[in-house]
Amino acid sequence: MKRGLFITFEGIDGCGKTTQLRLLGQRLRSIGRDVEETVEPGGTAIGRLIRKILLDGANSQMDARAELLLYFASRAQNVAEVIRPAMDAGRVVLCDRFTDSTLVYQGCGRGLGAELVVQLDQIACDGLRPDITVLIDIDLQTSLARAQQRNATLQSTETRIDDESAAFHGAVRDAYRALAAGEPERFVVLDGAMKIGNVARHLWEALRERV
Ligand code: TYD
Repeated sequence: MKRGLFITFEGIDGCGKTTQLRLLGQRLRSIGRDVEETVEPGGTAIGRLIRKILLDGANSQMDARAELLLYFASRAQNVAEVIRPAMDAGRVVLCDRFTDSTLVYQGCGRGLGAELVVQLDQIACDGLRPDITVLIDIDLQTSLARAQQRNATLQSTETRIDDESAAFHGAVRDAYRALAAGEPERFVVLDGAMKIGNVARHLWEALRERV
């Protein structure tokens, strides 16, 4: 069976990963690659309903384990409906966040531990793992300023995680860096404080041989 390439994008809120995903998608299409773009949580009609529950600032009472299961419910649907079929068709799948997000936000940030996240990943993703993960690393101040600006501009109600403390986001950033250090063959780490065009150029240099 043909197999595609599964590339995930990770980083703290406001790091610029969504912009980089789009730019990479355009570039890959321009050289004739068949690209599928998706997002977590979301990516399917069912996932978008789950996303609404997860990110609504009004749901401040959500239990950490309920939150964890909802992220994986969205992901199971995305894997079954979008990602697995695209991989089987030999496409390049670009996914905005995946299980590494759950490892760092719920496993570490919420203190649920990596073991639980890994167990649920096995159930929800059925062995599907990213071939390449792009981590856009950025300092806390720059990222928070960007996230706040975005929320104000879009009048977004998706603020539940953005509203967490600087200590929470700092722990998440450290956890991302530790993950990347532990799996250097999977991770491409880029400095998100660079200009958009420079991040994109570095990313292309890192990936061009592999795509
Ligand atoms: P998103 O719109 O992806 O935020 P950003 O554009 O800043 O990346 O919102 C997703 C939010 O959900 C983000 O704050 C991180 C959080 N999240 C988790 O806590 N766990 C997860 O497993 C995923 C996928 C996201």
